[in-house]
Amino acid sequence: MEQEKKKRILSGIQPTGTFTLGNYIGAVRNWGKLQDDYECLYMVADLHAITVRQNPADLRRQTKEASALLLACGIDPKKSLLFVQSQVPAHTQLSWVLSCCTQFGELSRMTQFKDKSAKHADNVNAGLFTYPVLMAADILIYNADLVPVGADQKQHLELARNVAQRFNSQYSDTFTIPDPYIAKAGAKIMSLAEPEKKMSKSDENANSYILLLDDPETIRRKCRRAVTDSDGIVRFDAENKPGVSNLMTIYSCMTGKEMDEIETEFSGKGYGDFKDAVAESIIAELTPVQQEYQRILNDKEYLEGVLKEGAQHAQYIADRLVQKVYRKTGFYQL
Ligand code: TYM
Repeated sequence: MEQEKKKRILSGIQPTGTFTLGNYIGAVRNWGKLQDDYECLYMVADLHAITVRQNPADLRRQTKEASALLLACGIDPKKSLLFVQSQVPAHTQLSWVLSCCTQFGELSRMTQFKDKSAKHADNVNAGLFTYPVLMAADILIYNADLVPVGADQKQHLELARNVAQRFNSQYSDTFTIPDPYIAKAGAKIMSLAEPEKKMSKSDENANSYILLLDDPETIRRKCRRAVTDSDGIVRFDAENKPGVSNLMTIYSCMTGKEMDEIETEFSGKGYGDFKDAVAESIIAELTPVQQEYQRILNDKEYLEGVLKEGAQHAQYIADRLVQKVYRKTGFYQL
């Protein structure tokens, strides 16, 4: 009997610093779990990173570190492709064609563009504006069916779908229309300092996020300092108790416990005990990841071998699609 073709997954992460617990829970942690059921491609999105000024030496180092960290988080190169975006030039080739199928008004509505251009007012470059087009190219170039991301990427995914539909109707069916794959729990982990805001590695307050490479003492300290409220009851209510609810979400994602179980576990106990338990659950999850990360980072030959093979394979798939798009677009073929 013919084996059913697996659906394809593509996702990416920017190498702009060590990943936060938000990146991990909202996206990366799920990537490894999808490898058996899907054909997965994961990339370190270094082209996206330069929409904000980067120090070249840091970017190079962080790209390598991000790759090692993804492997440590469970991406298995025997099952998935892992590559660095800039090593597959076809993404930028497709991006140009797609940018001509994207309206200025659509890009102007992107909330991430609005946020980032306000934050980096001295460098509102064209790349920051057209970033979602490159992201659409990343996805569409592999005809990905599903894109596992956190909730903050949903709007970019919708744009990718619109652009794909537009191209398909103008030039005939070419791209698969991708669906977002957003986990029910943990799709938006909030800042520990301002729980109304998303946890982000670009936050100026280092106490607002936990990094995957934070040591146990730092994790304990950051959890203890996390903003909660004054009623002292561990209860899930995202609207009225955003700080406690965020910690509960983290704890639930780390332990697999349901919210009502957590409420019972800490009933009659103070926030101190609760925060300590949250910290210990994070430490238990991250310690093996950190050990594996160090091991992989020290094995340069292995890491570079994985990335080289990943890029070659990805480039093979991507090139074929770009050829098809160029042909359909009307570019003269020799
Ligand atoms: P990036 O690098 O900002 O984030 C990587 C992934 O982490 C998720 N995430 C979160 N999830 C839950 N809670 C949070 N606080 C949190 N912060 C971040 C993001 O939703 C994302 O899934 N543009 C993308 C990278 C990219 C991409 C792609 C993704 C480039 N091309 C193609 C998917 C498909 C980005 O900047 O993610």
